[in-house]
Amino acid sequence: MRAHLRDRRVAFVPTMGYLHEGHATLIRAARAEAGPDGLVVVSVFVNPMQFGPTEDLSRYPRDLDRDLRIAAQAGADLLFHPDVATMYPQGYSTSVTVTGVSDGLDGAARPGHFTGVATVVLKLLNLVQPDVALFGEKDWQQLAVVRRMVRDLNVPVIIQGVPTVRAASGLALSSRNTYLTAAQQDRATILSRALRAVQATYATGERRAHALEAAGHAVLAQEPELTLDYLTVVGGDMQTPEIMDNDPMNRVLVAARLFGVRLIDNMPLGET
Ligand code: PAJ
Repeated sequence: MRAHLRDRRVAFVPTMGYLHEGHATLIRAARAEAGPDGLVVVSVFVNPMQFGPTEDLSRYPRDLDRDLRIAAQAGADLLFHPDVATMYPQGYSTSVTVTGVSDGLDGAARPGHFTGVATVVLKLLNLVQPDVALFGEKDWQQLAVVRRMVRDLNVPVIIQGVPTVRAASGLALSSRNTYLTAAQQDRATILSRALRAVQATYATGERRAHALEAAGHAVLAQEPELTLDYLTVVGGDMQTPEIMDNDPMNRVLVAARLFGVRLIDNMPLGET
């Protein structure tokens, strides 16, 4: 990996592959960050450490040829695709845990998940040594965890967030959407509709967290196939105060299981 770097400005997009337009948007943003003389690196690594024992590691979708095409088309210079034994050789025994921002929400629903994410992201940052690394706002808590780790451990990189890319229907693009049929993907728009209802309520001036969340719950209740994990409003610290302020970092986050697939989404509160 390092032999390719040669003092060029490096912009890095870590992924687990099965690339879609959301990833492509990150790669195009990386191209813009790196400039014409810079180097855009995309990694494709389905990280076992961030999957729980009952999660979809073995069936996670993979297609490296397609990933190579999409990454090149979006402006990547290099695709880094390490295997599991390279990343976690026999006797591997180190991990990075970010407390606080990792504890609630997806951290509570998926024990160990963010330790797996923080560990592999730090390893990838050490391998690629980018000037800037780009992450999607789609995974809002992940972005918060990565930002905190980089700050706390003095990792010399700029972390740049990129707004969520959605289908015209409103559904946030995700590699996991491929588990759903077209009709099921249509019904999965319930998540973004619930988030919009919370945004609309916030726009009326409502600041009580429970009232904001109730507006989202009312929408989600219309889908009988949905099992809710959480729908929560949070501030920049990933905590929920009783009364929200007007901080632009305020966000509404949702996670739910629909047709056996766990989906997440989030939106800023202060925009409609
Ligand atoms: P993955 O789910 O492949 O996502 C890679 C990057 O693409 C993440 O930063 C994610 O937030 C971003 N992304 C996914 N869908 C998006 C969308 N619809 N709009 C904008 N960005 C989107 O997230 C991971 O992989 C892993 O946890 C990883 C960080 C690579 C560590 O293993």
